[in-house]
Amino acid sequence: MKKTIELLKKNNELRIISDELDIYLEIPHLAYAEVKKKDGGKALLFTSVVDKKNGLKFEEPVAMNIFGSYKRCELLFGRTIESVADEITKLLHMKPPAKFMDKLSMAGDLFALKNIFPKKLKSKGACQEIKYLDENIDLSKLPVLTTWEQDGGPFITMGQVYTQSLDGDMVNLGMYRLQVYDKNHLGMHWQIHKDSSHFFDQYQKAGKKMPVSVAIGGDPLYTWCATAPLPYGVNELLMYGLIKKEPAKLVKSLTTPLYIPQDVDYVIEGWVDTQNMRMEGPFGDHTGYYTLKESYPVMEVSAITMKKNRTFLATVVGKPPLEDKYMGWATGKIFFPLLKTTAPDLLDYHMPENAGFHNLILAKMQPHYKGHAKQFMHAFWGAGQMSFVKHAIFLDENSPKLDNYESLTSYILDRFTPKSLFISEGILDALDHSSPESLVGGKLGIDVTVGKRIEPPELLGDEELLVKVKELVPDTVDLHQYMRRTKNPITVISIKKTKNVKEHFNALTKLSSNLRVVIFVDELKNDIFNPYMLIWRVTNNMDAIRDIYISDPMVAIDGTTKNLLDGFTREWPDDVDCTESVVESLKQRDIWDLDDKIYKKFQL
Ligand SMILES: Cc1cc2nc3c(=O)[nH]c(=O)nc-3n(C[C@H](O)[C@H](O)[C@H](O)COP(=O)(O)O)c2cc1C
Repeated sequence: MKKTIELLKKNNELRIISDELDIYLEIPHLAYAEVKKKDGGKALLFTSVVDKKNGLKFEEPVAMNIFGSYKRCELLFGRTIESVADEITKLLHMKPPAKFMDKLSMAGDLFALKNIFPKKLKSKGACQEIKYLDENIDLSKLPVLTTWEQDGGPFITMGQVYTQSLDGDMVNLGMYRLQVYDKNHLGMHWQIHKDSSHFFDQYQKAGKKMPVSVAIGGDPLYTWCATAPLPYGVNELLMYGLIKKEPAKLVKSLTTPLYIPQDVDYVIEGWVDTQNMRMEGPFGDHTGYYTLKESYPVMEVSAITMKKNRTFLATVVGKPPLEDKYMGWATGKIFFPLLKTTAPDLLDYHMPENAGFHNLILAKMQPHYKGHAKQFMHAFWGAGQMSFVKHAIFLDENSPKLDNYESLTSYILDRFTPKSLFISEGILDALDHSSPESLVGGKLGIDVTVGKRIEPPELLGDEELLVKVKELVPDTVDLHQYMRRTKNPITVISIKKTKNVKEHFNALTKLSSNLRVVIFVDELKNDIFNPYMLIWRVTNNMDAIRDIYISDPMVAIDGTTKNLLDGFTREWPDDVDCTESVVESLKQRDIWDLDDKIYKKFQL
């Protein structure tokens, strides 16, 4: 981490904050504000870190937002993301060499591959300079942050979690948040679909304890590798070797059989008793909502080791944009060549940050036959972590660039009819809160690769339309029409919901000559003039099977909070919001410098 900090400093990408700041809310709130600034602000280094509640002052600084811009991401990778993607494409398309010179260049490529395999050292690592064992183990000596007011406690947010299969043949590196319960217990939030959870099942079945080593810091690329969605059984540190052109150098943990990179800043080792689970959470998550309490495995810590000269690394999640926007950008680009192996006619794809990645994917393809886009949808919904995607829009090769949202939206709306919709059911990210039951729910595909000519509606102004809508739907508070120049304008209607939205939609069908796509949102907490946050809210809150209503040529989406009026019996989580008193106090001390306009735009 010290090298990383020097690198960031040299490139004018670091802001050092030396004011005394608390691990409880203050530091995370500042990092949350920073990443919302233009181009992700700066990386932050907090050098005077305290735990006010327990009267502790930490020796080490805390680093945050280190991946939080495109520039910083590439700095930390040590090369362009494009060059990594190109290299993977080349490896996937290797053909037998035809000429002598081809043989030579291929030999060079293959020789470089020898570096991808991690190297196990016999010595001790720099990460083991300081050791705490037995009664000296105390997680409260680490500056672990509590990010949000309703969080169940402090959480390690950038832990590299190293695990291995029961037979020791497979090793895995994943990033899962880790709740600190007390001096020597950590919650393991590996969700049910993730690789460490599969390993856990093996240990549980065998009635054995599972070893886990958690590393923090070191080369930041280890942290990105931990988030990489590689298939089950593939060690993520292979990606480290491929990108860095040198192997990750590993040392053995002191009290578990697991190997960790020798240069990380901290290691927390321990054993998970597979017969005992514990309530984990709540936690203000990267959906922008809290994940509610749920039962997860717990690790009993058997050793904590660290460098003498160390830095604690953390991130903050909540509403978009977040640091993981940039990590996800790198992942998207690097995994594109791999996704193309299952969907060869895929030309490009993009996951807008404000839809929290899995809630919306835009995919450009070369359609060759009827139903081709639908074939792609099934491929996506069956491919590793891509199967968490809730909503996918498929476009043909002539569509505008996928991040040119204005032109792209026009292109989609000019081709869309209710027949473009394809609704199915599949697995959902464990964090999804909107489906009637957890883990499975609606999937929506929109196929606009087949253009249809349709008549535009008779347009009315917002005010005139509002009067007519209010007559039919008395719950209406306000409305605003977007993309009026297209064949399918979108009308966002805010309501104070007193009945199921289907009833409102049925009433609105009387206005079928004036309306095409209608989106209902709650009046509370939504600004109908803020499309960035509306997309965040609606893609989060909808379940395609339950919340889409069709009456050709009209389509409605219910983006409201669900409750008993909708037959929804799960608990609906709260939004992740900043604590106003913390922001006020930081403002008074002249440490908070986020423009109020940005605060409002991203609904902090
Ligand atoms: C900031 C951040 C926090 C994350 N937290 C979790 C988490 O708590 N639980 C989880 O299962 N995945 C979490 N993820 C996603 C996983 O890191 C990701 O799915 C990874 O590919 C899992 O590795 P695995 O497939 O080897 O299990 C998080 C990702 C990021 C970027």
